[in-house]
Amino acid sequence: MTFDFDAETRRALGYRLIDWIDEYFSSLPGRPVQLPLEERSFAPLTGRLPEVAEDAASVLDDACRELIDKGFHVPAANYFGLMNPTPAYMAVLAEALVAALNPQLASLARSQLASRIEAETVRWLGERVGWEGDFSGTFTSGGNEANFSALAVALAWHFPEVVENGVASLSAPPVCYASAEAHHSLDKSVGLLGLGRHALRRIPIDGRIQLDLDRLEQAIQRDFSAGYRPFAIVATAGTTSAGAIDDLSGLAAMARRYHLWLHVDAAYGGAMIFSNRHRELLRGLELSDSVTIDPHKGLAMPFAAGALLTTHPNMLEQTFAVATPYMPRARSSPLPDNFQISAQWSRRMNSLKLWLTLRVHGRQAYEELLDRQMRLAQSFAGWITESGRFELAAPQVLPIVTFRLRANGHSEDEVSTAHTRLLERVTAGGQRWISGTHVAGRSVLRMMIISYLTEERHLQALEEALLEAAGKIE
Ligand SMILES: Cc1ncc(COP(=O)(O)O)c(C=O)c1O
Repeated sequence: MTFDFDAETRRALGYRLIDWIDEYFSSLPGRPVQLPLEERSFAPLTGRLPEVAEDAASVLDDACRELIDKGFHVPAANYFGLMNPTPAYMAVLAEALVAALNPQLASLARSQLASRIEAETVRWLGERVGWEGDFSGTFTSGGNEANFSALAVALAWHFPEVVENGVASLSAPPVCYASAEAHHSLDKSVGLLGLGRHALRRIPIDGRIQLDLDRLEQAIQRDFSAGYRPFAIVATAGTTSAGAIDDLSGLAAMARRYHLWLHVDAAYGGAMIFSNRHRELLRGLELSDSVTIDPHKGLAMPFAAGALLTTHPNMLEQTFAVATPYMPRARSSPLPDNFQISAQWSRRMNSLKLWLTLRVHGRQAYEELLDRQMRLAQSFAGWITESGRFELAAPQVLPIVTFRLRANGHSEDEVSTAHTRLLERVTAGGQRWISGTHVAGRSVLRMMIISYLTEERHLQALEEALLEAAGKIE
């Protein structure tokens, strides 16, 4: 028994899957995000390991039916995020093509056109970042890997000896800086790089949820005086909770003053490079040494698609390259092998979906999408302010709105408990999903417009649900 099917079966299975996907996509504007609370199950599956063949069509049907009927539907129009979008349909098709062709992106010799498509996609992103000189980059599994890689590169740039000898060979411990609201992938990264998690200095934020430049400068000076070796600043363009964007130009100037690498974690907010109208929000991005952008957040791509770009192309090789006798090299190629410029080795082609979507729809489609998401978020933020029951918790900068129940004399603990109860009510039926988090240490409710299917009518229904829930928890 092999895995081969005849052409007729392949076609029949393929069309069947496309029918399922098509029906699913048609349902997304009105589909509940998940089952009602009382029907959700998180119990582990207990099936036995299948030993023999079953009918492919019925297994496929079962899997589609179960996953759709019992799933959590990130692509639904009523999913008000975290930062995961409805995948563009061209990206869904691209994923199938990548799986079928299975190009080995590790080496140029085994992925000739695929590697060049990836390099072209990196170039399109870098040009929109605003870089006019040399730059390079690599697709990653997401923002976590991109941020990890950026800090590895920054470390190697500052201390070339760590690549071979490790941080233990340094005479003093390296440290880096990010805002209190920066993503926790940075904590993981410094830990895994052997610096220890304390090496990430979390700097307090100001009233606009931006990293406080004065406090940063004090921390840098304190660290230098205490014998630490600062090597990098990580700015965030689109914080996970509030969508705040740090002062990128101010941080670039600070990085230059102290000879530090500036990495911008624009995993989500970086999407705005595609909007001429809102590109200004990212002013200073072009001054960075490296940038994380996750197409699987703001650019309607399915997992996985992250990217790391840098204006120090040779630093990727200095950080990641190793010599191997067994990787076939492409002769006289202007492009490096991907395994030499990234943390991964065997690598999937995560770029085709973005490349294909851009080829089919063009950048302007993204501009339209992002501009519309901004208008919807502005309208929702306006409603919050006027609702009488809620208040904004942080300025709305990107299509993320954080808000709170008005305290009306209640303690912080009481407000936080009320938020939990309100979230339970709004999400219990499964029709829609919003989340709770903390911003500047305070409990907040959070929604974002991340699906290209979300319209004003979905917001109105959410507003009604919020008012109804607020009325019931008192
Ligand atoms: C600002 C930011 N950076 C990095 C990440 C990590 O990205 P990923 O989940 O793609 O690894 C996230 C995830 O939400 C994020 O919000």
